[in-house]
Amino acid sequence: MNASKTIGIVGCGTMGTGIAIVAARAGFKTRIYDLKPEPLENARKQAAAFLKKSVERGKLAAGEDAQIMAQFLTTTEAKEFADCDLVIEAVFEDLKVKHSIFKQLNDICPAHTIFASNTSTISITEIAGGSGRADRFVGMHFCLPAQLMKLVEMSPGMNTSDATFEAAWALCEALGQKPVRTRDTPGFILNYFLIPFNNDVINLIDQGVADAANIDLAVKTALGYPLGPLELLDMVGMDTQLLLCDAMHGLTNEPRAACPPLVKRMIGAGRLGRKTGQGFHTYDSSKIFGA
Ligand SMILES: NC(=O)c1ccc[n+]([C@@H]2O[C@H](COP(=O)([O-])OP(=O)(O)OC[C@H]3O[C@@H](n4cnc5c(N)ncnc54)[C@H](O)[C@@H]3O)[C@@H](O)[C@H]2O)c1
Repeated sequence: MNASKTIGIVGCGTMGTGIAIVAARAGFKTRIYDLKPEPLENARKQAAAFLKKSVERGKLAAGEDAQIMAQFLTTTEAKEFADCDLVIEAVFEDLKVKHSIFKQLNDICPAHTIFASNTSTISITEIAGGSGRADRFVGMHFCLPAQLMKLVEMSPGMNTSDATFEAAWALCEALGQKPVRTRDTPGFILNYFLIPFNNDVINLIDQGVADAANIDLAVKTALGYPLGPLELLDMVGMDTQLLLCDAMHGLTNEPRAACPPLVKRMIGAGRLGRKTGQGFHTYDSSKIFGA
């Protein structure tokens, strides 16, 4: 059934690449659109490396990685989304950018195409309002790294039809993911408490209470988390953390959601996390998490 459906992903950064792996692995024809060839080429390399490791670990049969990569179609032309059944947008956390993408796609995609945003903090109803199809629009918030994390927080906007939400839910399950329903509210479930929690941890570092290794060890040991908060932040990226904090703080006025000064200094120093090889920890930037 999945092979007869096409999923389009807009933006192939940290999240879009992972979501594209999920879609292609589930057997969907997968189209990935970005503005330039470089990020698309990078996404293709990351996906191939991840799937190769999955074969080596026995999670995929020999040759299955090549079959999945054959489903992974990259493009810099939005018009190639004309056959998509579902489009998942994963570009910068910026309402104007998201509106302009959906306006363009509304003219390209057929009436039955469901639009979804992977936004972490912007209102689904607001994004849907500028899409030209607010009744066929849902929030689908994947977790980082999407190719390993099953959870998707799904939220209807105020004008989302029941039929759209049910169809998007069924597609999410067909992707092999675990949807949970949330209201359209800043941060949904996880980021509502994770953004302030992570900011508290960043401020602990800035105050010299402990270093990143010790904080991560303490949280993993005591709370049983698979990743420490600073390992997770290095995957999220300081640039994205700044955008998330600004959006969340602007919407809620929660003081603990305000971006910690250390994040801004790290951006100034080029220490964005895994993507630059240096964040709270140091990395071999050729390696991706889970690969
Ligand atoms: N990073 C996380 O931990 C995380 C987790 C869950 C959800 N999100 C959400 O996912 C979205 C993307 O975040 P990210 O961290 O993957 O961002 P990112 O900066 O890693 O990637 C964004 C990508 O979008 C592309 N892009 C920008 N404008 C575009 C346009 N007009 N058309 C096509 N492509 C365009 C960029 O070239 C880039 O490749 C955001 O809404 C964010 O809130 C992020």
